[in-house]
Amino acid sequence: PETIVVSELANRMAERAADVIKSLMKMGMMVTANQTIDADTAELVIEEFGHRAVRVSDADVEQVIQTVEDKAEDLQARPPIVTIMGHVDHGKTSLLDLIRQANVVAGEAGGITQHIGAYQVTTESGALLSFLDTPGHAAFTSMRARGANVTDIVVLVVAADDAVMPQTVEAINHAKAAGVPMIVAINKIDKPTANPQKVRTDLLQHEVVVEAMSGDVQDVEVSAHTGQGIDQLLEAIALQAEILELRANPNRAALGAVIEAKLDVGRGPVATVLVQNGTLKQGDIFVVGEQWGKVRALINDKGERVTEAGPSVPVEVLGINGTPEAGDVLNVVETEAQAREIADYRIQAAKDKRAAAGAATTLQELMAKA
Ligand code: GTP
Ligand code: MG
Repeated sequence: PETIVVSELANRMAERAADVIKSLMKMGMMVTANQTIDADTAELVIEEFGHRAVRVSDADVEQVIQTVEDKAEDLQARPPIVTIMGHVDHGKTSLLDLIRQANVVAGEAGGITQHIGAYQVTTESGALLSFLDTPGHAAFTSMRARGANVTDIVVLVVAADDAVMPQTVEAINHAKAAGVPMIVAINKIDKPTANPQKVRTDLLQHEVVVEAMSGDVQDVEVSAHTGQGIDQLLEAIALQAEILELRANPNRAALGAVIEAKLDVGRGPVATVLVQNGTLKQGDIFVVGEQWGKVRALINDKGERVTEAGPSVPVEVLGINGTPEAGDVLNVVETEAQAREIADYRIQAAKDKRAAAGAATTLQELMAKA
């Protein structure tokens, strides 16, 4: 059952603890400021003081921001979200840059891609793909650790002149643990020392059986230097996405994940959010981690102002009252009061957790000394 400490209740109402105790006495309860009372009693006291009670517990927060079950008929295809992983120096950044530039050139003239941590490209066959611009395992694992599973497909980059290395294996394990399908990009195929077959046989030892070895993991030979195989790689991703049948409901309150966040001197807190379901719109009220806000502006990966962002679309969000953290979940809610209440609750919960952890260590220290 939910409870609250009397002094904390007084504090939240901005009333004196003594007055709250007096009120409780009138209700026949003898308590001190440090004792807890149950939520029903607290609600009576709150009304007594002329306030309105908004209960926010874990369960309530869940309820407010619940992923409303989408009906099958409301679901529409959404682009895949792709993360590039691989061993150091195998060409992750080069590939990401090449894919992005190729698309800028192919796209509208003068389009300037700005770095917002994620971007979208269109394949030759017209499929839309979203790339997370932060290669590497750290981002992937830290996001996952925070409960944000934002990757649909992992592109495993393996240099053809180096084959499978320790971080290649790590990446394979991450993808497998997350249940995310992989596509192998055998990179640096332009090098005279390239040995793509070694890559394929090396991968067998880690239970990754590529198509060329009669398995079901797509493998594409590419060169981030010459551009060879890039179109095939993009089409392979699009094909994998089709197999996954990725769906979302664009006609609901948005749910997203923070990819990057910073405090911008001119613009205030700015977060790049990848919308995972629903459509994020200008004017939407939201909570994001321990922060909340109202969307003042949305900016896409081309640096353009947009009024909304649908599923799998990365956008910069302005109008947050503080800087959230990468991996934080953004939920659109109905009212500012709700948003504030949930953010407050989370701040308090985090504080309590830290305090509890602190108390535990002190206790341990005391025991150790004894
Ligand atoms: P980290 O971020 O350090 O893990 O490396 P990375 O995987 O992002 O590799 P990066 O793109 O920085 O490339 C490493 C080196 O390999 C650079 O010198 C690139 O120019 C070179 N390189 C990348 N792709 C290719 C390729 O297809 N062919 C050749 N010949 N060189 C490449
Ligand atoms: Mg890099």
